[in-house]
Amino acid sequence: MTPITKQAGAITARVPAKINLQLSVGPLRSDGYHDLVSVFHAVSLFDEVTVSPADRTTVVVSGEGIADVPLGPSNLAVKAVAALAKATGRRGRGTSAVRIEIRKRIPVAAGLAGGSADAAAALVACNELWGSRCSGAELGEIGAQLGSDVPFALVGGTAVGIGRGEQLTRALVSGSYQWVLAFGATGLATTDVYAACDRLRSARADGGEAPVKAPALSTELMAALRSGDPAAVGPLLTNDLQPAALSLQPLLRRALAAGREHGALGAVVSGSGPTCAFLAEDADAASDLAVAITGAGVCRAVVQVSGPVPGASLVDPVAAT
Ligand code: C5P
Repeated sequence: MTPITKQAGAITARVPAKINLQLSVGPLRSDGYHDLVSVFHAVSLFDEVTVSPADRTTVVVSGEGIADVPLGPSNLAVKAVAALAKATGRRGRGTSAVRIEIRKRIPVAAGLAGGSADAAAALVACNELWGSRCSGAELGEIGAQLGSDVPFALVGGTAVGIGRGEQLTRALVSGSYQWVLAFGATGLATTDVYAACDRLRSARADGGEAPVKAPALSTELMAALRSGDPAAVGPLLTNDLQPAALSLQPLLRRALAAGREHGALGAVVSGSGPTCAFLAEDADAASDLAVAITGAGVCRAVVQVSGPVPGASLVDPVAAT
């Protein structure tokens, strides 16, 4: 991976990927979104975003999946910088242009909120660069306008999200959880997966099935997370978007089956997919599982991560050298 250039006045923030331990999706709302109950969990797979003063705003991306990262105004980190400039009154004063360097390890369109993560890191880094002194709550409000997952990328840890997923409450969790993430060969667009979910549901409703209920938090999952016992958490991982992701990428079934067959305590598609998350008993079991899933040849790449980890935070330039 190309190292980030060290520049005077450059500020770097590091930000984790998320997986969903529960993702319950309500009916389609009139604004095109769905009410959710999402148990977000930040894991130790990080992107880094460096911002530095410039004459005009530019984006440079290195690392995982760069061909699919937009370099223009549709890049979420660019939108984040513009939103912070607007909120803090910098816009139009010629002082809000920055060079944005994104070093990606979180795959694009993977159900891991990588784009939202980069937006969160850009907010934290520019807040520092400009001395804006926005509180975490203020950054969260700005972030929520950029994407439903941005507020969680700012706080990290494990949290329950309701509404679009942007209204967060921290969850009580004991211990640390060891995961294997299996990346798909191609990405899935979030909007496509929600649309497929709606289609599957309306076909089921036509077949006489009861209408979709409002989503509800799993009290069993919350109790298991408090207990710190991965064997209790594993069977309780759920994702209402999983059937939709599987309908769009049927090969994911093989990945989930391979993980279960090789001893995963739980196996679930993360968010809108196609990344599959497998929970292991401990770090050794996760290493064995990672090797077995790699050997099964059911995915593009496999990484071993742990969670929960903190959200977007500044990288100390001295410690980083
Ligand atoms: O908020 P964000 O931009 O990340 O959402 C991307 C897309 O995902 C939305 O346009 C919508 O299609 C879908 N979505 C949804 N309900 C949510 C969150 C996202 O339908 N709660």
